[in-house]
This record gives sequence, structure tokens and C-alpha cells, in this order.
Amino acid sequence: MAVLNHYEQKFEELIEGIVNHDFGVCDSFLPEDFARALRLQLLSEFEQNKFSPASIGQGNHQRQHLEIRNDCILWIEPDSSNKLEREFLDLVNNFIQYLNRSCFTGLQHFEFHYACYPKGSFYRKHVDSFVNDKSRQFSLIVYLNPDWTEDDGGQLKLYLKDKTVEILPLLGRAVCFPSHLIPHEVLSAQNNRLSITGWLKK
Ligand code: OGA
Ligand code: MN
Repeated sequence: MAVLNHYEQKFEELIEGIVNHDFGVCDSFLPEDFARALRLQLLSEFEQNKFSPASIGQGNHQRQHLEIRNDCILWIEPDSSNKLEREFLDLVNNFIQYLNRSCFTGLQHFEFHYACYPKGSFYRKHVDSFVNDKSRQFSLIVYLNPDWTEDDGGQLKLYLKDKTVEILPLLGRAVCFPSHLIPHEVLSAQNNRLSITGWLKK
């Protein structure tokens, strides 16, 4: 049997979770140094005021609804030449190829953004696919928060068929689930909560 490298093992963990209970979570998806470097990159872009308040909806129907979500985001250019972002996007591409080979998912595209939830912010219960655009197949979130505890809040709460689960946004951790299937919310964060969130698309 082929020996799996670090990322292939992590891909397997995520896929196994999705197959067995509709979502996958795995720790150290990003090696610690890589996660810390992406965190610094996010913070540097944030300090240059490149982030915007996130909206909901799509196309001409995008609106800010601060009572629904009040995080700030910055889209990562798909052809970014920044070394770290390139490394992250190459990783996403590898995950897409892995899913397509092992699960015949037919994924072709992706979109990812940095997200910052300042203290007190949240994202109320929602699903990630749009009414008129079903291209988002899987949601993938990686967290960039060292030293995060229960007291810091900001859990990702997933509404599964028969129960809910709450996931802390710990540095290097990844969560993946089918975008149309799982309603979820981000509980109020008591500290700045940093992540990269995106979608694997058809
Ligand atoms: C989103 C989202 C979850 C998280 O951006 O759509 O649900 O844990 N994010 O950041
Ligand atoms: Mn979401």
C-alpha cells in the first residue's frame, strides 16, 4: 500500500469524517510554522486596511447585514504570487485533485478569503450554497488562532441531522463539509478570531 504523506493523511481524515458523519475535522492540517506564517500574513494585510466588512448574498444581491454577520474578509487572488498564499492555494489544488481521484467529485474551481472576526462578532446560522448557484460543493475552513480556549468563544457550531457539534478555531485545524448540507454558525468571538475560509466548486 502506498505510504501517505502528511497532507494525504489529513485529506483522508477529512474525507473519512465527511463520509461517516457529514463533516470532517482534523488538527495540524497546516503544520504549525505554516499556520503561524499565514496568520502573520493575514494580520499584515489587515493592518494595511485591505479587509472589508463581509456581505451576504451573491452578485447584485450582496448586502451587508451586521445582524447576521459582522466579520471582515479579504479574498485571496487565485493567481496570487505571494509565496505563502501560493503554497496555501497549491495545497487546496492538491486537495481538489485528491478528492476528484478518490471520490469522483468533479471539482474544478475554488475561492478562498481571509476572515477576521473582531471581538464580539459572529455569523448567524446559514448554509454556504446560494439559491441560484449550486457551484459550491465543499466548505473548507482553516483556523489561525494560537492559544485559543473555550472562554474565547467563536466556536463553529454545526447543525447535523441528529445533533449539534461545536468546534474551537484552533491554529492549524481544518473543517470541511458539503456546502449545501450543513447549516452552521460562528458563535460570538471574545477575541480576534482569524481564519481562511473557502469553497471547492464545480
Ligand atoms: C463562512 C463560515 C465558519 C468559520 O464564512 O461562511 O461559516 O468557522 N465560516 O469561520
Ligand atoms: Mn458558512
